Amino acid sequence: MRTLGQFRYLLPAFGRIKGMLALAGLVTLSVSLIALLPPYLAKLVFDRGVATGDIGTIVLYGLLAIGAFLLSSVLDFAGDALSGVAGTRFTVNVKSQAIQRLLQMRLEFFDKHQSGYLAERLSEVQMLGQFVSPTIFQFLGSLIQFIGALVIMARISVEITIVPLLFVVPFYFITRKMSGSLKETSEELMETGAQMMGSLQEMIGGVAEVKQSTAEERKSHEAAAQFKAFGSQEIKQSIFMGLGMGSMEFLTNLVMVIVLILSGIFIVRGELSIGDYVALAGYVGRLFTPVQLAGMFILTIQPAMAALERLRPIFEEKTEREVGGKNRVKKLEGAISFNNVRFAYDSAKDPVLRGCSFSIAPAECVAILGKNGAGKSTVVKLTLGFYPEYDGEILIDGRNLRDYDVISLRRRVGIVSQNVVLFTGSLWDNVKMASPEASQEAVQRALAFSGCRDTFDGDLGKIDIAESGKTLSGGQRQAVAIARCLLKDPDVLIFDEATAHLDSSTRGVVVHALNHVFAHKTRVLITHDREIAGVADTVLFLEEGVVRRS
Ligand SMILES: Nc1ncnc2c1ncn2[C@@H]1O[C@H](COP(=O)(O)OP(=O)(O)O)[C@@H](O)[C@H]1O
Ligand SMILES: [Mg+2]
Repeated sequence: MRTLGQFRYLLPAFGRIKGMLALAGLVTLSVSLIALLPPYLAKLVFDRGVATGDIGTIVLYGLLAIGAFLLSSVLDFAGDALSGVAGTRFTVNVKSQAIQRLLQMRLEFFDKHQSGYLAERLSEVQMLGQFVSPTIFQFLGSLIQFIGALVIMARISVEITIVPLLFVVPFYFITRKMSGSLKETSEELMETGAQMMGSLQEMIGGVAEVKQSTAEERKSHEAAAQFKAFGSQEIKQSIFMGLGMGSMEFLTNLVMVIVLILSGIFIVRGELSIGDYVALAGYVGRLFTPVQLAGMFILTIQPAMAALERLRPIFEEKTEREVGGKNRVKKLEGAISFNNVRFAYDSAKDPVLRGCSFSIAPAECVAILGKNGAGKSTVVKLTLGFYPEYDGEILIDGRNLRDYDVISLRRRVGIVSQNVVLFTGSLWDNVKMASPEASQEAVQRALAFSGCRDTFDGDLGKIDIAESGKTLSGGQRQAVAIARCLLKDPDVLIFDEATAHLDSSTRGVVVHALNHVFAHKTRVLITHDREIAGVADTVLFLEEGVVRRS
């Protein structure tokens, strides 16, 4: 039941491909039925053509068989193509849905799971494509053929049908065993391969070090030993495969011969025609295909089920919109008050805030001071609704924070935090991130008031930012973040140690912006910087989880 429940998350993605899936199913059904024809036509060639010496009949049934083969090949191709496309669309849908939900999770969720882990979960979605893969349809098709073949064979001779059926069981176990070991050795091979790549990369990356230590020879021997280990694993795998394939082939041939012998005896006794034997020989193989596919199918489905299970938190955990309030913010006055707020990141640990109370009026400029780890950034995160599990009351414009749609609230609050994160792309795009519709002039203004003009050389429109801004200095990153925030033109501006890396001239530009450009907005400045704190109307101290006014 739990397993079925998991599939619930996939329903929307299924919904969008259900037409294609239905068509693929229909095609599979037709292919399987058409594929049942040729052995029966072969029987008719013998019983109606050969037996009466009528060449016309032989040719006629032969042509019909060609037609059936042709049609089933074409439909087979169409079915594979359909299910292939449906599978890809399906995984694309699930992935898009998962990333959309993931980004809307509360921050707590990201505290609990490593980012690499989450990215890995998303990449595993690929495996869910197995639920809609051609293998599934092939399996269904082979089941239909199994039933069809069984019915036709039983009508020809019940005795000769029972014998091959008895062999289906050992055949199944060989397939299971073989696929199981195949999976194991493939995993080993992948692991050894990954390790091999890892050390090769390290060796080539560190080639200068290798040369310095004159370790060329030793290192190449090490690599050669790894190649050899990989090679012997490959050999082991192919021997195993060969054994499995060989024994399955032997079993099928054995069954064929048994059918031949039994048919021979029955024909001599006059209980069977040659055409009957031809048909039986044609159908007997179909009894083994679903068994063979089932073994493989279980293997491909297992990783898909595991991936589905690991994806569960992303679909089960509520997004911010799903748990948050409904009140959408268009514009804020900018009043913030905390009433006796208690908060702990982890209920097992000491709270960070223990009855914290303060009020900030609209357009007020407040500085919050306090030691490292006092909880200043925590106050900011709570104000933005990142962590809703607090006690006490937080009011924004006199209304409970819990009533707000937090996403719309964040749109009206600008934050420059101590950890500036920039994204690969141009400086320009990074500044426009929160306000994609901003005009050219607005961006220019934000760049000027943020101090970007002073910290970067040359044409700001031409500057590119590498991964996470790692090629920029701390001050440059902060200037970009300040520009980003100014461009957003928020009703409340929060600087969380945002000016720590700025030099004095850039800081002067920012102080001027705070005093003049933003004079009519609520400003919260978390800082150790006297010059910045000097701008504030009020100074608050955060210590031991409570706020004091100075
Ligand atoms: N996401 C988190 N999970 C658990 N503990 C956290 C988290 N963020 C901060 N803390 C802890 O909460 C306390 C206050 O942190 P913070 O508000 O960032 O302090 P600061 O005043 O320096 O901004 C610190 O002890 C810190 O270790
Ligand atoms: Mg902080």
